[in-house]
Amino acid sequence: MTALTLPIGKSPIDRSAGSSAGLVVLISGRGSNLQAIINAVRAGRLPAEIRAVIGHEHGAPGLARARTAGVPTHVISHRDFSTRDQFEQALIDRIDPYSPRLVVLAGFMRILGKSFIDHYAGRLLNIHPSLLPAFPGLHTHARALQSGVKYHGASVHFVTPDVDGGPVIIQASVPVRPDDTPEILAERVLQEEHRIYPLAIRWFIENRLSIRDGEVLLDGRQRPEQGLPRPGSAATIS
Ligand code: GRF
Repeated sequence: MTALTLPIGKSPIDRSAGSSAGLVVLISGRGSNLQAIINAVRAGRLPAEIRAVIGHEHGAPGLARARTAGVPTHVISHRDFSTRDQFEQALIDRIDPYSPRLVVLAGFMRILGKSFIDHYAGRLLNIHPSLLPAFPGLHTHARALQSGVKYHGASVHFVTPDVDGGPVIIQASVPVRPDDTPEILAERVLQEEHRIYPLAIRWFIENRLSIRDGEVLLDGRQRPEQGLPRPGSAATIS
């Protein structure tokens, strides 16, 4: 069970009080979740300011999306560092001057170490394309099809050193159809990712989230809109 200190989301380096909340988004590639967040901010659905987008590959399409949106971008390549600690310290040195209230992993495909995660404890989110705790790790859609589950989906969670194991804020499930391929299923899940990630970020910014006994509460209790299945409910039946 993960112990996080309450209230979450507060940080001594948060200088954003009173203005819209600052976000720094970390990506690896396509950046469609980043785009969903950009769109939500633009549409007034997310009271946030994306202060920077950081990638680790120069050609990542997500960086181009950020530039188009007028968001500063940076590339920090893990290949320029001899250890993961040095790479992660370089990330921290790039992120912290932006004073983000929240650091958002949006398809960031590098596993982060404990010191990075501890540095942003309680204000580091990730989206994972499965109904966690099912299918942590890679190739989730193919594994879901192979296992024969009837429902698959996506989860937004707080990041802890337990990879894909942090407290889940919101989940969205989609049906698995008999003729699905991993690509078709991934696209169905992705539509839900684009809906739930901006929503989870908004709940965080609005200070509506708390954690009790490893469970994320919305306004003090677990609510249906979090989509978290109770044991034995339809979404958990495989
Ligand atoms: C998404 O499926 C996300 O859940 C996973 O990586 C993918 C990133 O897609 N962590 P995109 O870069 O946001 O389009």
